[in-house]
Amino acid sequence: MILNDELTAIKNGAQGETMRKILKTLINFGEAFGAERMVPITSEYGHSVIGAASFSWSPVFDIIDEMIESGALAKQKFSADPVSYDPKVPASLLQKLAFKIIFSAQNRLENQYKKFGIMDEKAYSCTCYMPELGNIPKKGDILGWAESSAVSYANSVLGARCNRNSGVLELMSFALGYVPEFGLLLDEGRRADWIIEVRCEKKPEAQILGSAIGMKVIEDVPYIKGLNNWLGTELTQDTCDYLKDMGAAAASNGSVGLYHVENLTPEAAELGESLINEGAQIYVIDDAELEKVRNSYPCLWEDKNAEPELCFMGCPHFSKQQLIDWCDRLSEALQKNGQTELQVPTVFTAAPDVIEAFISEQPERYKKYKDMGLVLSPICALTYTSNPLIGKVKIITGSNKLRYYSHARFHSEAELLEILTGGAK
Ligand code: F3S
Repeated sequence: MILNDELTAIKNGAQGETMRKILKTLINFGEAFGAERMVPITSEYGHSVIGAASFSWSPVFDIIDEMIESGALAKQKFSADPVSYDPKVPASLLQKLAFKIIFSAQNRLENQYKKFGIMDEKAYSCTCYMPELGNIPKKGDILGWAESSAVSYANSVLGARCNRNSGVLELMSFALGYVPEFGLLLDEGRRADWIIEVRCEKKPEAQILGSAIGMKVIEDVPYIKGLNNWLGTELTQDTCDYLKDMGAAAASNGSVGLYHVENLTPEAAELGESLINEGAQIYVIDDAELEKVRNSYPCLWEDKNAEPELCFMGCPHFSKQQLIDWCDRLSEALQKNGQTELQVPTVFTAAPDVIEAFISEQPERYKKYKDMGLVLSPICALTYTSNPLIGKVKIITGSNKLRYYSHARFHSEAELLEILTGGAK
C-alpha cells in the first residue's frame, strides 16, 4: 500500500497507538480487495450504519470508546442509521420491556456519537440524503459509508463514490479521513457488466424491479435501459424516491452498490453506453418476469392465512413527498371503501427532520394520518423485528429489504392499499 507522508507518520505512531491501529485495519481491509493506496474522504459529512444499539454489540462500543478517549474523533460530522425504539410504535408491555433490554445500549451509543461527531441529535435516518437532513454528497465525492441503501443512492443517484464498507470500518475511516481505493471508487469498478432491458407494459413497482435486478446481477453493476419510459430523464423528487426504493431492493436481494439508468443517473447521462463493459450480459425484464419474481417471495408465517397484525412502510425511510402521496392514497381508498380508520395498525417511518417538516408543512394531512390511526416514527422497522417477542407478530410491508431480512410478508402497493383500507379481499 502506497502511503503519503501524513499516513506514513501515522503508521509510525505520530498520532498515537489507536490511530496507528485504525490505519493498519484500513490498510488490511484495502489490501484484501487489491487497493494500492488510500484516498482522502471528500464529502462534507459521513454516515454510519450503526444507529440502533443492541446490548450484544458491546465490543463495538468499546472500540468507539477507545477512539474517543484517544482523541481519534471523526474528521467530518456524520449522520447515522435510525434509532431502535419508539414507544409510539404498537407493541405489548412485554414486547416493550424486551425492546428496553435489547436496545439498552442506545443511550451509550448516542452519548458516544455526541463526542465522536454526530451532526445533531436528529441526524438518525438511513435516508440522510433527504434535503431536510442535508447530508447530500456531491458528484465525485469519496465516501466511507456502509448503509447499503444509502451507498446505493449516493453512488447511483448522486454520482458519489463509495464501497459497501462495514459498520466499524466506516467509523475508523471517519477518524482517519481516508479510505482504501478499490472497487466502486475507481472508474473501472463503476462500469457495467449487465444490461437490464426493461420491457414492461406498465410502470414496474420499484421494490420488485430492484429485487429482480439484485437477484440476477448479485454484486455487479447493471446498466438499466427502458426505465426512462416511466421515469423520464430528470431527477425529480418522485424519480429519486423511486430510485431510492429500487436501489435498496437491489442492494438487499443482491449486493448491488451502484446502478446506472440510461439518460437519467448522472454518470449514465454523461457517459452513456461507454459505461458498459464489452461482453456484458443481458437480462430482459417484462411484466411476466416481475410477476415470477414477486411470486417467488416466501411467506414465513406459520399460519399463512392469518390476518395481518401490523404494517410497516418506509424502509428505506420515506421522503416527505412519499408521506404526502400515501396520505392522499389512503384517504381516498378509505373513503371509497366506507371506512374511517385503517384496518391494520400501521407505522410509516421517516427521518426525524422529514417527519417534523411534514407535520409543520402539512398539518391537515398529519391530522388525517392521526385520524386514520397511523403512526409516524423515526425507527428502523428491521430493528423492531429483531425483538424475539415480535417473531410471531404477522407483519406486512411493501419493502423488499424488510421482507428479505425479517419474517414480514411482502405486498405490492395496490395490495397494501386494499388490505389497509378494507377494500376487496
Ligand atoms: Fe433503513 Fe432500517 Fe430499512 S436502516 S433501509 S429502515 S432496514
